[in-house]
Amino acid sequence: MQIIDGKATAAAIKQEIADSVKQLIAEGHRRPCLAAILVGHDGGSETYVHNKVMACEACGFDSRLIRFEDTVSQAELLACIDSLNADDGVDGFIVQLPLPAHIDKTRVIEAIRPEKDVDGFHPVNVGRLAIGLPGFISATPLGILTLLRRYGIDTKGKECVILGRSNIVGKPLSQLMMQKGYGDTTVTVCHSHSSDIAATCRRADILIAAIGRPGFVTADMVKPGAVVIDVGTTRVPDAGRKSGFRLSGDVCFDEVAPLCSYITPVPGGVGPMTICMLMLNTLAAARHEYYD
Ligand code: GUN
Repeated sequence: MQIIDGKATAAAIKQEIADSVKQLIAEGHRRPCLAAILVGHDGGSETYVHNKVMACEACGFDSRLIRFEDTVSQAELLACIDSLNADDGVDGFIVQLPLPAHIDKTRVIEAIRPEKDVDGFHPVNVGRLAIGLPGFISATPLGILTLLRRYGIDTKGKECVILGRSNIVGKPLSQLMMQKGYGDTTVTVCHSHSSDIAATCRRADILIAAIGRPGFVTADMVKPGAVVIDVGTTRVPDAGRKSGFRLSGDVCFDEVAPLCSYITPVPGGVGPMTICMLMLNTLAAARHEYYD
């Protein structure tokens, strides 16, 4: 069994991005620039956005953080998006989710120009992935595929089972894992209405858990030799930690790990790759790789 080290892989990729930025600057380009819109003061969102800004620094990008109180109107938010869409100094931007209930998330995502949608959430980018056209692919699915590639894990023709059908992870991941030249796997997606999830999981050569239920995947659900990817990052109370919580994955790591050929830990597996892929998408935006 080999542990897939997302932290080390992400650090190596960030270094590669920083080297590419040096090259861009030497060619006379300005630094890539990522902007982030953060609404309110949710603890998780604050941490994610802070880490994104830090990653920009590590990669040699410029970054802008635009903050609104959670009383911001939808019109104000859309006006901010319009100004970032038109700003030639910004290559890509994100609106950190979740948003307050009075704001229509879909309207917000649809307002972002697909050329600057480095989260890959806009329907145009989601659709381009579905039909195999180049475009921005959302960071968590791209991070998972990148980990599989970097560890030399052959996915072609394998059975892939994905737990979860969220718009951010499960759905785009299912597209990516079946896409020609990407995953090339046979994909099954399980969700809250699926029957006999354990039996489906036992068929998987590659099992990817993204349901946000700590410890859901147990040893009896895993085929010996499977590759297990844990996307879960649920905060569970832990009085022994300074923060008062720890991150828990969707997989019972201790009982599942001995069965696997490869497994991602939580933390230190998929998580660090997500921000790193956002940086890669921003670099691609700065280079106009997908859209002229
Ligand atoms: N909230 C949780 N994950 C993400 C992400 O990848 N992008 C954005 N914008 N918000 C998130």
